[in-house]
Amino acid sequence: MFDRLLNGKRVLLGVTGGIAAYKAADLCSKLAQAGAEVDVILTEAAAKFVAPLTFAALSGRPARVDLWTSPGGDPIPHVTMAAAADTVIVAPLSANTLAKLALGLADNLLTSTLLATPIASQKPGFSEKPGFSSPDQEQGVPWILAPAMESHMWANPLTQAHAAALRARGAVVVGPGVGRLASGAQGAGRMAEPAEILAAARLALAQGGPLAGRRVVVTAGGTQEPLDPVRFLTNASSGKMGVALAEAARDLGAAATLVHAPLAVAVPFGVESVPVRTAAQMCDAVLARLPDTDILIGAAAVADFRPAEPAGQKIKKTPGQVDLVVHLTRTPDILAEVAARRAEIGRPQVVIGFAAETQDLLANAAAKLAAKKLDIIVANDVTEPGSGFGSDDNRVTLLFADGRQEALPIMPKGEVAARVLESALARLVSPH
Ligand code: PMT
Repeated sequence: MFDRLLNGKRVLLGVTGGIAAYKAADLCSKLAQAGAEVDVILTEAAAKFVAPLTFAALSGRPARVDLWTSPGGDPIPHVTMAAAADTVIVAPLSANTLAKLALGLADNLLTSTLLATPIASQKPGFSEKPGFSSPDQEQGVPWILAPAMESHMWANPLTQAHAAALRARGAVVVGPGVGRLASGAQGAGRMAEPAEILAAARLALAQGGPLAGRRVVVTAGGTQEPLDPVRFLTNASSGKMGVALAEAARDLGAAATLVHAPLAVAVPFGVESVPVRTAAQMCDAVLARLPDTDILIGAAAVADFRPAEPAGQKIKKTPGQVDLVVHLTRTPDILAEVAARRAEIGRPQVVIGFAAETQDLLANAAAKLAAKKLDIIVANDVTEPGSGFGSDDNRVTLLFADGRQEALPIMPKGEVAARVLESALARLVSPH
């Protein structure tokens, strides 16, 4: 799978001693599948848990342990690998190696290489430079650290001070999570999951992307309109489409915010989560953010009607009762409200809606594009199998305000999201 951020990037993956080293193999595999060139360095302790051969097979490149041998004939591999790295990931990071990194010790191949690899300072989502730029070795490269150790070692003030020192220099510390540890005890010290570490690396690498310095707000999920304290009206939206859009915005360097009704999937790492429940709450959350929003994308399936007077207590059926009449009333039309505010304040620059249709797809979508004064509408035939609500894929047609249309084949929601963001990007007015 082509990965815009990781494809062709040199990732220096350090693996230190701990049971979580087996999870580093999965991380290595994910990085290689994304097209990254992964240089793996294991400490001697790590090699006791997982053989270097495992990493070599997964990365397709030599995995090294020893500072004093140079399998490729390179007499100074620590300098060569440091100079080539676009980003550093150390997972798992033991308390011992964390301390060495904080103090600048260089007593093995990993610590020597990392001492020669300057850390870039992180400004998530913001950069003065538009356009993707390779991390600049002069300014350092992102360091992503995933500590894993027993909870008492992690809680030790010395360990905390070392982590703080590396954070202060710009390193991103992911985790550790709370859960079952090698000793069988529960506590903080579990290595973050490979997907989270990968997301942190993507977030760091995205800085300087074409949406750097921009805020993208995406709505997602199906709103819930209460009928009584335990029942509500909703729909089948999982939020996957909106989550994919927020993730794509993050990967282009934007500060991404997801205003979401309950989701069936997790909010991605590095995306701001604004949980809401009803259409009215979603509307308030979106309107409050408009002055700071560059691109707004409405992927949520928002209820058009809500029970006018939700019951204060659980509605009970009475003997012989055959029906229940519920009076519904309109919810706010969020995108229509946005259009009205946009006319006053001139923001967001780009507003994109979705149209979930079961008939007359293009005609209905075009009518919504005009009525809601959108720049683009993404027409979604939700009757197509494997597409629309809940699925991993989607087939959509983009309709533009100037009358153009672009029909896309069925593709993963992540790819649909990338195409939508590309179209939004083309409409942004450059600040420069
Ligand atoms: O979440 P998934 O399971 O991944 O499914 C994705 C999806 C099918 C929900 C998504 O691709 C999609 O089509 N979202 C829009 C669904 C919808 O409510 O469409 P609509 O035609 O009813 O609304 C048109 C547009 O107006 C939408 O952008 C909607 O967010 C917005 N709207 C609708 C009602 C309302 N009261 N306020 C709004 O702003």
